[in-house]
Amino acid sequence: MNPIVSIRALTKTYASGLQALKPISLDIHRGEIFAMLGPNGAGKTTLIGIICGLVRASGGTVQVDGFDTIKDYRKTRSLIGLVPQELHTDTFEKVISTLRFSRGLFGLAPNDAHLDAVLKELSLFDKRNEQIKTLSGGMKRRVLIAKALSHEPRILFLDEPTAGVDVELRHDMWAMVRRLRDAGMTIFLTTHYIQEAEEMADRIGIMNKGELIMVEDKAVLMQKLGKKQVTLELAQSLSTIPASLDDLKLELSGGGHAVTYRYEAQSANGIAYLLRRFDEAGIAFTDLHTEQTSLEEIFVNLVRANP
Ligand SMILES: Nc1ncnc2c1ncn2[C@@H]1O[C@H](COP(=O)(O)OP(=O)(O)OP(=O)(O)O)[C@@H](O)[C@H]1O
Ligand SMILES: [Mg+2]
Repeated sequence: MNPIVSIRALTKTYASGLQALKPISLDIHRGEIFAMLGPNGAGKTTLIGIICGLVRASGGTVQVDGFDTIKDYRKTRSLIGLVPQELHTDTFEKVISTLRFSRGLFGLAPNDAHLDAVLKELSLFDKRNEQIKTLSGGMKRRVLIAKALSHEPRILFLDEPTAGVDVELRHDMWAMVRRLRDAGMTIFLTTHYIQEAEEMADRIGIMNKGELIMVEDKAVLMQKLGKKQVTLELAQSLSTIPASLDDLKLELSGGGHAVTYRYEAQSANGIAYLLRRFDEAGIAFTDLHTEQTSLEEIFVNLVRANP
């Protein structure tokens, strides 16, 4: 299937001379949740702005569902729902009115059945006649998503959907985004929260200083870059690691009562190998536990390696 969004050699240099995007090429697949991670100023919002036609690119092309975002601007914009990073929600307008208006802006015929379905999906239906100003912060965010969905887009862009929201609301938001994806929506979100990408995304991109330094399936990324470690609690303490195990680069801790072994997640020299070597060396252990590097460590290492 052709990608829903196809970005080729996209660049952006602002009038200030700042190069916000170095050449970026990326496909967004239909029906996926794509999470773009990156520190402040990486260029995430600039990228979304260009895809949505709000920022003019300096070079390269973007196609949405096969249409060019400049030549066929109205068409591509109609396929996109956008929840921007900066939220403006202090309006006296009623929830349902703002949705109707938003839909109208795209030249679509009124369709309250669709709007009601969106409101129900976002658990906002009972708030449809409330003034937006009177809603809680979490509800306001949902209204913005509902608004972005009012014209039946194919892909939803969420620019930092959970910045500054509490843990409960964040989980709520994740569940909502998953439901949208399960209903067939493609989702592109940006985030600083690694846990968010780890929880939600099918694929993860990492941007740093205008460069897309990596794009990978989340599972592959975790496997490829992930390291594991196993700690064995020893039956009898050791003062030193036996020479026969030198090659394993073990670390002794807990006053000689524990040893830690580190290995690549994909490696054949995993736990089974370690236990065999311990057996051969005649060292008994009473317990073992394993740990895996998180996406957070992977991310920090990657950004550090690309200063
Ligand atoms: N209108 C503008 N004029 C000049 N420079 C800009 C403009 N908008 C953004 N920039 C610069 O472009 C770079 C990328 O900014 P952008 O907002 O795309 O980053 P971001 O990854 O979304 O960051 P954040 O995580 O803080 O939202 C930054 O250095 C920013 O200062
Ligand atoms: Mg941003």
